[in-house]
Order: sequence, then C-alpha cells, then structure tokens
Amino acid sequence: MTYVLGLNAYHADAAACLVRDGILVAAVEEERFRRIKHWGGFPSEAIRYCLAEAGISLADVEHVAVNSDNRANRWRKLGYVLTSGVSPGYVLNRLRQRGDRADIAGNFKEHLPEQAFSGIVHAVEHHLCHLASAFLVSPYDKAVAISVDGFGDFSSAAWGLGEASSLAVDGRVYFPHSLGVFYEAMTQFIGFPHYGDEYKVMGLAPYGEPRFVDLMKQIVQLNGDGSFALDLRYFRHAPGQSAIYQVKDGLPHVGQLWSDALAGLLGPARDPAAPLEDRHRDIARSAQATYENAFFNLLQAAHRRHGVDALVLAGGCAYNSVANGKVLERSPFKKLYVQSAGGDAGGAIGAAFATWHKLGGAAAQRHFVMDHAYWGPSATPDQIAAAIVERRADFDAAGCTIERIADEATLCRRTAQEISLGKVIGWFQGRLESTCPS
Ligand SMILES: [Fe+2]
Repeated sequence: MTYVLGLNAYHADAAACLVRDGILVAAVEEERFRRIKHWGGFPSEAIRYCLAEAGISLADVEHVAVNSDNRANRWRKLGYVLTSGVSPGYVLNRLRQRGDRADIAGNFKEHLPEQAFSGIVHAVEHHLCHLASAFLVSPYDKAVAISVDGFGDFSSAAWGLGEASSLAVDGRVYFPHSLGVFYEAMTQFIGFPHYGDEYKVMGLAPYGEPRFVDLMKQIVQLNGDGSFALDLRYFRHAPGQSAIYQVKDGLPHVGQLWSDALAGLLGPARDPAAPLEDRHRDIARSAQATYENAFFNLLQAAHRRHGVDALVLAGGCAYNSVANGKVLERSPFKKLYVQSAGGDAGGAIGAAFATWHKLGGAAAQRHFVMDHAYWGPSATPDQIAAAIVERRADFDAAGCTIERIADEATLCRRTAQEISLGKVIGWFQGRLESTCPS
C-alpha cells in the first residue's frame, strides 16, 4: 500500500489528510482539536488522527505533500520586490514563514517526536493544489477547473482544464490582484475585522441594494480573457505595509487592507461596535454583486476557451455559496462540482491527490470520488459515555441534566418535540466534517 499524507501547514486552517492507494482515508483541520478557529501552525494533532484512523505510523508514510511551493513564480516575486518598493519587513516576514514551512522533516521531529519519518516531501504549488482538490476527486473525466482565493504562492486565481488524471493550467492572476482580497477588504470596511468573516458579508448582502456597483467597477476591473485587476489606490496590501498576512502563535491575522481612498469613494467605514445601517447592507450587496460579476466573467471566458460543460471549483472564494448557486443559471456550464473544503485546508487534499497521480503506474488511474465531507473523527457510544463521566462536574455546575435514550424512534420523537417548542438542538452523529469554513 502507498500512503500520501497531505498537509496545509503554517497557514490559516492548518490541516492534514491521508490518501491510501488513491483513496481518501481521513481529512481534518487542526482547529478541530485545538479549538481555536482558523489555527494556522503545524497540524500535529490532525496528522496523529489521520495516522490513527488508518492504523499506521508515520514510518509507513512514503510521501508527504504540502500545498505550498516556494519556488513557484519566483521570478515574478523577485521582479515585484525589485520594482514595487515593497517594504523590507514584508520580505523578511515571508522569508521567515518560508523557513518554517520548508523543513517538514524537522517539524515532524519537533511536533511528533514519538514518530519516525523517512519519506519523501513534495512541495505542490498552492493553486495547483486547489485545482487538484476539486478536479481529481470530482466525478468528471474532463472539466474546466477554477480556483479563486486571497493569495497563495504569489497568485490569487488559476484556471485550466482537467482531463483523466492530469491538470493543465492556462491562466492565472498574480499578486497584488485578488478577488479574495477585494472581498476581505470590503468585509473589514463593513466592520467585520476577523480572518474568515467574509461569510457575514455574504449573509448581509440580500438585505441591501446594489447601489454601489457602478462605483465598485472602478475597484475591480474585468478583462476579456476572464482575468481581473484591482485599482490599487483603494488597497494597502501591495507594498506590504501593515496589511501583510501573517500567522502569529497559530492565529492568522491580516492588517487593514483598504485605503482612505475607499472611504472617499463609498463614505466612512463602519466601526465594528456601531450599529449596522442600510448603507452597510448596500455595500455588502454591492460587494457580492461585484464579486459575482468578476466570477462569472471568468467562468464565461473559461467556457469559451475549452467548450467543456463540467466545472469544478475550489479556493477560498469557492465558499461563496451564493455565487456557486447561480453557476448553472448565469454561465454556460451544465455540471458543477465544488470541493467542500474549498479553502486552504482542502489544499492538503489537493496536494495529496496531485502527488499520488504524479507517481504514475497504478496511480495514473483515478478511482475515487469525494462525494461527502465527513472525513474527521467519530466517537463510539462508550467514548461519549467516558467523556461525560470525565466532565461530569462541569455539567453539574452548569445545571445540565443528562439522559440516555437508547431507542432511536423515541430519541427522534423527543427531538422533534423540542424543535417544535422553538429550542435549538445540537446533534452529533458519525464522522466530523473535515473542515468548517466560518
Ligand atoms: Fe488558497
């Protein structure tokens, strides 16, 4: 048997997955164990879980695949550093993060000292991982693959054609242009400052009117080939400054991405403590509409280029379920597969499958479809009972009563009754979803 361990490490939503002979065995985000949202260090607990689920040790893993390749786009990076006036602090920060990520064997030694590792480490470019995470586990033999996110390995979007077990990338958008950064900047501007708050804007959008869409056409410019460009006057990330993305003590953080020029265009930003007004709802609706216009411009161009009716999506922006829900009505595509772990946790899955298929031989054939999201830990009734015993004092202190209902029909009836009374039910059953976008 050949095992490939996929990793997203030292980046938000650190995660691990394990592929055995081309079939996914386990996948889970580190935050599930550490209970810190978007935790972004080395995913040691997720790795331990994946190995335990398969009943193996790290010594049995021949290949480790990481969803980052520092060599990717390096001439573009160098050109940008030399010509953009980017701050030295920004460059040093990126180099330091690169050092942490690169030494995977060292990280195993430090974080999993009980395990021996003698496998091969494969660095796989960030967007290739997103594309692979969607296409190589999709039900399609041939599909247009599109990845849109903030940034990874110096690009923010990539697209191309997947066929059999290969992927050909035929277009990219590079730093500093990014739809993910546009959406994140608007999220901050509306007063939601935390990493991963974008879903709040998506949820707020239907309550507003798209009256800023024309103004936002200045911010995101669309090109005929499906690519897009930001008007950098409205942003602060391009020269580094304080808007750099960094992971500190496992927590991802992004400084203020928008510039004063944005407030000049749209009016003042909302203080996070201030009430939400119609103007904020209208900005949210307009930002969502602007994102959708750019997204569908890209989809139209990709369909024109390849003439294939199946589409697969990944990348952080593939969590925009509102836009995804319009794919079949606003684009010529007739079939759609969205990687449920669209963000960087899913990059671990893409890295593992891209590496597995690169090995050739039996790996050349695809024989796995990821048709659900439940690849994390589960718990047996005995484990749940033991956990209750261990935390009994906490339950008692909180005034909780615990009752075991063994008969399933009785349990369902009781639950339905409680729901009918307007109560909120927490339900835990089977394996955990590998990732949680919000
Ligand atoms: Fe990404």
